[in-house]
Amino acid sequence: MSEMETAGSLKAALPGDEIVARINELGNISEAPGQLTRIFLSKQHRAAADLILRWMREAGMRAHLDAIGNVCGRYEGDRPGLPCLMLGSHYDTVRDAGKWDGPLGIVTAISCVAELNRRGRRLPFAIEVIAFADEEGVRFASTLLGSRTVAGTFDESVLNSRDRAGVSMREALEVFGLDPGHIGAAARARRELLAYVELHIEQGPMLEAEQLPVGVVTAISGATRLAVTLTGMAGHAGTVPMALRRDALAAAAECITAIEASCRADTGLVGTVGAIDAKPGATNVIPGRVFFTIDMRAASDAHRSKAVAEVVRRIEAIAKRRELALQVEVTHENRSVPCAPWLKSQVAAAIAAEGYRVFELPSGAGHDGMAMVDIADIAMLFVRCRAGISHHPDEHVEVADAAAGARVLLRLIENFRRS
Ligand code: GLV
Ligand code: MN
Ligand code: MN
Repeated sequence: MSEMETAGSLKAALPGDEIVARINELGNISEAPGQLTRIFLSKQHRAAADLILRWMREAGMRAHLDAIGNVCGRYEGDRPGLPCLMLGSHYDTVRDAGKWDGPLGIVTAISCVAELNRRGRRLPFAIEVIAFADEEGVRFASTLLGSRTVAGTFDESVLNSRDRAGVSMREALEVFGLDPGHIGAAARARRELLAYVELHIEQGPMLEAEQLPVGVVTAISGATRLAVTLTGMAGHAGTVPMALRRDALAAAAECITAIEASCRADTGLVGTVGAIDAKPGATNVIPGRVFFTIDMRAASDAHRSKAVAEVVRRIEAIAKRRELALQVEVTHENRSVPCAPWLKSQVAAAIAAEGYRVFELPSGAGHDGMAMVDIADIAMLFVRCRAGISHHPDEHVEVADAAAGARVLLRLIENFRRS
């Protein structure tokens, strides 16, 4: 078959409508009315897992849930038991999320396998699709729990961490129907994987500016997340003079503006305080204790580490001057992860073969590849999203771009060679 005929048949087979319909279906599975919030190990998370299991089986895969809640599908190669090309993304969401972040990579990979299965095509390697249970880290502060389980780097001490309602991860896994004792056994060996490739929305504006539906990722920026607790003294809002107060929320406000100032002064650095909780939380009580999070990222690890140390020094100085106790905990630390050159060039070749200019871009967002790199070379294919909006309900991908991503991914799979 000529190149043009192949491209034509792929266009007909993967029009994107099925992908968009499934994104919508998953997007309706939410624990919050009128918005999409699907947090790790919730009832809705379980319903999404069941739907993905069904789609994988319909696509000709064997599929199961592993011990952390990853949905794992396998399509055998031309003989059973071959090492696999692993594809995947995550099915948890942030709060009030967009519906494409994560699910696009899952449903596109399933559609590609379904297409191979429809054609009766088996390749000289297996294909595995994994829908990772937790990437965002919203519920228990630790991130990448799904991919760390697969990579064998899951830290069992986080099983004792508790969510806002006081439920431990261990208890939540049991309610979901999983056995935390089996997490270690869900790890995969390097020899079982040929590579890990993830398709994901860009979550930024670069592809749109280039007028391109897809792009090749060069590297994933590293990130540090901190949990900060400031403890002062609660008291009566009407009786304690301003000079005698040890107000933890006023101190937190000063810390937040200091973090913003540090990051604004330094191009290439981004920092966010995304969650804050003040106690006791009453109009007429001086806040005695405040908890807040910090997320800091930069393309280079050295740059990020230096900036984090500087921010911590500034917070310590504020706490000391205001006579507050300070506790700073690193809840997540991920180094920058480069995509493997040999794999990147196969993604680029698939993009070019589909008739698009090859454009390389870094990922400022974190992805499961950051954990998977411990057991496999990784690559990422980005799909354009409207106005670069993500982690927001307005997140949007055009059906034609979803279809373009699917065609590139299918071509990549069909031409894949381990170098
Ligand atoms: C995940 O979306 C992250 O980059 O925080
Ligand atoms: Mn996300
Ligand atoms: Mn994501």
